[in-house]
Amino acid sequence: MNLQSNLLPLLKWAGGKRQLLPHLIQGLPKSFERYCEPFVGGGALLFALAPQKALINDVNEELVSFYKVVKDHPEDLISCLKEFKNEEEFFYKVRNIDLDVKAFSKLSEIYKAARTYYLNRTCFNGLYRVNRKGHFNSPYGHRKEVFIPAVERILAISEYLNKADITICSGSYLNLANVFKEGDFVYLDPPYDVESTSGFTNYSKNGFSREDQKSLKLLCDSLTEKNINFMLSNSSTDFILDLYRDYSIQKVNAVRLINSKVSCRGAVKEVIVTNY
Ligand SMILES: C[S@@+](CC[C@H](N)C(=O)[O-])C[C@H]1O[C@@H](n2cnc3c(N)ncnc32)[C@H](O)[C@@H]1O
Repeated sequence: MNLQSNLLPLLKWAGGKRQLLPHLIQGLPKSFERYCEPFVGGGALLFALAPQKALINDVNEELVSFYKVVKDHPEDLISCLKEFKNEEEFFYKVRNIDLDVKAFSKLSEIYKAARTYYLNRTCFNGLYRVNRKGHFNSPYGHRKEVFIPAVERILAISEYLNKADITICSGSYLNLANVFKEGDFVYLDPPYDVESTSGFTNYSKNGFSREDQKSLKLLCDSLTEKNINFMLSNSSTDFILDLYRDYSIQKVNAVRLINSKVSCRGAVKEVIVTNY
């Protein structure tokens, strides 16, 4: 397997794993037939490994359809992106299209993907954030540079998604429970557990509660029963340490820069849990 590809993620994502990569790569099982990532987000590990067979999923439909457009229509996406400008008034016009649900639903998937990419690059702190109604609500980032899409990166990811055998799914990870089989390696990177309500867990309309963390642990148990290797990342809270006490837990340091609350940025302890 090619462990260090030249592919770079296209989106900056809350909880992105770029800086944990060395630990994650070091902790991979020796071999596997298919790489599965049910909470793919920005796909830092996926693109670093560029496995030839993979299943990726996320509950965020906008994100998933972005990857599908990158795969199927990279040139159209790039030419659509050329119309976008890094200007405050333009930003809010593009951002607020989703306030009109009917008008938004009529937009092409290509335009919606361009909008996702553009907002990610120009919003404050690169933070994908939606409110309870699912409307994108990160403010303008006031970056100085001209908005230029990373054409080479888009084309490289598109080529990878087409050449490799990649299944792209959207929906809850729970829908995939029966899809995993022996020979798979499942990397689980859910929204992190937070000690208080001040942390950032609203990646999508639905947050990820402690009940959700417990359901995910049940999936880990069933993977273990089926002899399927998994690796899970999460924050090093007492709750998570206790929940996964029967598994192998490695504590690592990470610096979190993408968080809506300044107080939640900085060095934090995270865990990497494995069943092998
Ligand atoms: C910590 S982020 C993943 C970050 C990713 N590993 C990266 O490198 O960018 C968690 C992801 O889980 C997704 N998510 C939240 N709840 C989910 C669910 N029930 N099923 C599947 N995905 C979910 C979010 O949309 C988000 O993209």
